[in-house]
Amino acid sequence: MNAIEIKSLTKNFGAKQALKGLNMTVPEGAIYGFIGENGSGKSTTEKIICGLIHPSGGSVKLFGKDYTNVDIRAKIGVLIEAPGCFQNYSVWNNMMLQAANLGIKNPEQEVVKALKTVRMEGAASNKYKNCSLGMKQRVGIAMALLGNPALLVLDEPINGLDADGMRIMRDVLLDVTKNHGCTVVVSSHILGELEKIATHYGIVRGGKMIREMTAAELDADCRTYAALQTKEMSKAKALLSCKYSRVDEENEYIRVFDAEKPEDIVTHLYENGILVSEIKTAKIGLEEYYIDLMNGKERG
Ligand SMILES: Nc1ncnc2c1ncn2[C@@H]1O[C@H](COP(=O)(O)OP(=O)(O)O)[C@@H](O)[C@H]1O
Ligand SMILES: [Mg+2]
Repeated sequence: MNAIEIKSLTKNFGAKQALKGLNMTVPEGAIYGFIGENGSGKSTTEKIICGLIHPSGGSVKLFGKDYTNVDIRAKIGVLIEAPGCFQNYSVWNNMMLQAANLGIKNPEQEVVKALKTVRMEGAASNKYKNCSLGMKQRVGIAMALLGNPALLVLDEPINGLDADGMRIMRDVLLDVTKNHGCTVVVSSHILGELEKIATHYGIVRGGKMIREMTAAELDADCRTYAALQTKEMSKAKALLSCKYSRVDEENEYIRVFDAEKPEDIVTHLYENGILVSEIKTAKIGLEEYYIDLMNGKERG
């Protein structure tokens, strides 16, 4: 079953059309990376999924039922913007308050469990205001986890985190999907990070879904290139640009796309008096795939 199935979703804010017929499919158990430039409609879509705002049109199904279904609503955990916490309360007290608000049975047990999942069990007595950004984000996720949601919707949870904070967040999201049977939708523009955990991607632009794919499809779609070094970089680049349709330079390597065989490149340069000191093949990552897609470059 799909955790989320959205068809032709529209949302108008006055005259502003934020969503223009967006479709979205998130299979159960996925970590769905939700990507798009600022203002493309990610937060609006997430807010609709979470029942925080209502759509102007279209259909939103969660686990096969309409998004307004009360049983379904109870299964959705959400972190959009910062968690609503009291600065001077401890993490523990904030969590207990949230558990009380949600009417959770066995609140202590559930709070311990949620804090453990987000690797915050050792910091429960910290005042919220003294927590690092990464810890605050994890408290927000712990709150979203109260009540054992089947779907977790996180809006830019890794924004502003340091490398360590991102690594812990990654572990937490993998743990939540693997061991708690949760489906996760996570929006982010830090594509290199997203690529490490996402099983599915949705790319939005101007209020529409322009591409959805699995991690395997992304991998297959990501072009292979040959990267090489020589002592005569600019001369080599000029030569190769005459022969191949896409040649660029990155991190001190000349990259040649669309070359059938790397050997041909080496031979071609050799015949023109240039020796290749190193050559390797690699694939572009999500970040570049995304930029190419936005720039409308055709994929080979
Ligand atoms: N409450 C609102 N009132 C008016 N316009 C809004 C509101 N919320 C979002 N928008 C507009 O809708 C578009 C999509 O916004 P949003 O969903 O926040 O994008 P994203 O999260 O991808 O950056 C933007 O143009 C934004 O300015
Ligand atoms: Mg947003």
